[in-house]
Amino acid sequence: MSNDIFGDVDRFINQRFVKEDNALLQTKQTIIAGNLPPISISENQGKFLYMLARLNKPQKILEIGTLGGYSTIWLARALQPGGKLITLELDQHHADIATSNLQVAGLGDCATIRVGNAIEELPKLKAKGGSPFDVIFIDADKEPYAEYFQWALQLSHPGTLIITDNVVREARILDENTTDPEVKGVQRFIELLSNSKEVTATIIQTVGSKYHDGIALAIVN
Ligand code: SAH
Ligand code: DHB
Ligand code: MG
Repeated sequence: MSNDIFGDVDRFINQRFVKEDNALLQTKQTIIAGNLPPISISENQGKFLYMLARLNKPQKILEIGTLGGYSTIWLARALQPGGKLITLELDQHHADIATSNLQVAGLGDCATIRVGNAIEELPKLKAKGGSPFDVIFIDADKEPYAEYFQWALQLSHPGTLIITDNVVREARILDENTTDPEVKGVQRFIELLSNSKEVTATIIQTVGSKYHDGIALAIVN
């Protein structure tokens, strides 16, 4: 065994449980080729996200933070027939790559990328007054995580599942004296989540091919 024991176990799991098709494989390649940061969710986390989302039989999914569309593809595949996904992305280059990956996956019609700052796009979505989302995945910049969560609540109904990525950050969230604005953003989010009467929530730590991190799960009451 190598020293990368968590990565080795992830590969063991992926070989058995995560059969990636051409669209998912190609998405990972375009992220490398396009010089996007290597921060997509991992393969088995993608399948986990897909399975969690599927439990809610979603007609509408919202994602905040698209990157190359890797998590987007997993989530969109959990949609009910005729269902729709909206994903928010600040960076036009990321959005262009994700658009092409969603086309390859055959999801061009059900998944829409809105390019812009999520903190401006979320109120616009609310103002449009459409039906609420059944599943929401928060995975963009970390400083405004608390605000993203509050907008997610605004766009939810009882039973909506709100999943938030990267909430442990190699245990840096334990450092009460941190000056890292991303860690502070996650700490502020956790404080809000843990005191919220509107959701039933917990956090699961994750290890694997990515560094030690965690995912928050919240069901709207
Ligand atoms: N969900 C993706 C990874 C997202 S990485 C996956 O797992 O496959 C985070 C993404 O959020 C990056 O593409 C980044 O450009 C985007 N982002 C950063 N700040 C943002 C903002 N204010 N609004 C919308 N997107 C933002
Ligand atoms: C970072 C962002 C992510 O969404 C992620 O999954 C991992 C790392 C980052 O900004 O460092
Ligand atoms: Mg993430």
